[in-house]
Amino acid sequence: MITGRTQVFALLGHPIRHSLSPAMHNELFRRLDIDAVYVALDVAPDRADDVGTAFRTLGLAGCNLTVPFKERVLPSLDALSLAAACAGAVNVVVSEGGRLTGHNTDGEGYLGALREELGVDLAGRDCAILGAGGTGRAVGAALAGAGVASVTWLNRTRARGQAAVEAMAPRFPGVRFASAPLDAAVFSSRPWSLVVNCLSGPGVPLVSGFDVRHLPRGAVWTDANYWMADPPLFAACAAGGVRIQRGIGMLMHQGARSFELFTGRAVDSDTVRGVLDIGGW
Ligand SMILES: NC(=O)c1ccc[n+]([C@@H]2O[C@H](COP(=O)([O-])OP(=O)(O)OC[C@H]3O[C@@H](n4cnc5c(N)ncnc54)[C@H](OP(=O)(O)O)[C@@H]3O)[C@@H](O)[C@H]2O)c1
Repeated sequence: MITGRTQVFALLGHPIRHSLSPAMHNELFRRLDIDAVYVALDVAPDRADDVGTAFRTLGLAGCNLTVPFKERVLPSLDALSLAAACAGAVNVVVSEGGRLTGHNTDGEGYLGALREELGVDLAGRDCAILGAGGTGRAVGAALAGAGVASVTWLNRTRARGQAAVEAMAPRFPGVRFASAPLDAAVFSSRPWSLVVNCLSGPGVPLVSGFDVRHLPRGAVWTDANYWMADPPLFAACAAGGVRIQRGIGMLMHQGARSFELFTGRAVDSDTVRGVLDIGGW
């Protein structure tokens, strides 16, 4: 029952009506008997500068952020976790007495799903990340922290790829970082042992024009776009012995971590999967 003491959490973004987050968090609150509610707030993109003030004024306990606020909210926050600073993007904000800390759970979510679903050894891998947006950077930082040999971002906008390299290189001195154009010839020039597609919707069709026949058997191809029924190149990868992974596990793991940041209560990804009743994804 909602009372005068009920804590309020929210998802802020635009568009957000399709989101699974309210169903997930509210069901977890119910199962764990936590006096809290989670709502989706559709915020106009041009009001990004007001998000921090609104959060503090209304006394929200925490929020998730999605497009287009993950990067634009940074100036409104008091502190950033290491993962958020590496990603240059925030998907979770937690209030401690009105002091707002930004976190990023996408990288941790990606690694959690990778280990659970494929159990791969990441040491020494040469990784290509398609896209240097918030998700591409979060995944790159997580891979660097897990001991890969190199991370190369292939990105349309050169400055964004370079920014990812500059943010990461001082933090992970044992890893080689580079950026390159998002181009089929560049992609074909190296036998990547791990590839993660972190392009958003409009960029995804480009990937269909890439050739994956040079990727070694045992390489890994992840598509972060969990909402795609048939991600590009999955069939070609599977035919060449490349292990494929959908983004849904990453979504489950980052959601579980987000819930833990909100409540201090750990939930495993199976519980989250069960709550959303999407075990068949
Ligand atoms: N599975 C999960 O749990 C999970 C979690 C987070 C995000 N995601 C998914 O990851 C995707 C990326 O999210 P994000 O937050 O990183 O978005 P973002 O910060 O907006 O980055 C978008 C990326 O796509 C590129 N791009 C967009 N349109 C393009 C086009 N027409 N041609 C070439 N490149 C284009 C951008 O390149 P420029 O830099 O050149 O603009 C950038 O690299 C989304 O589709 C999201 O659903 C999944």
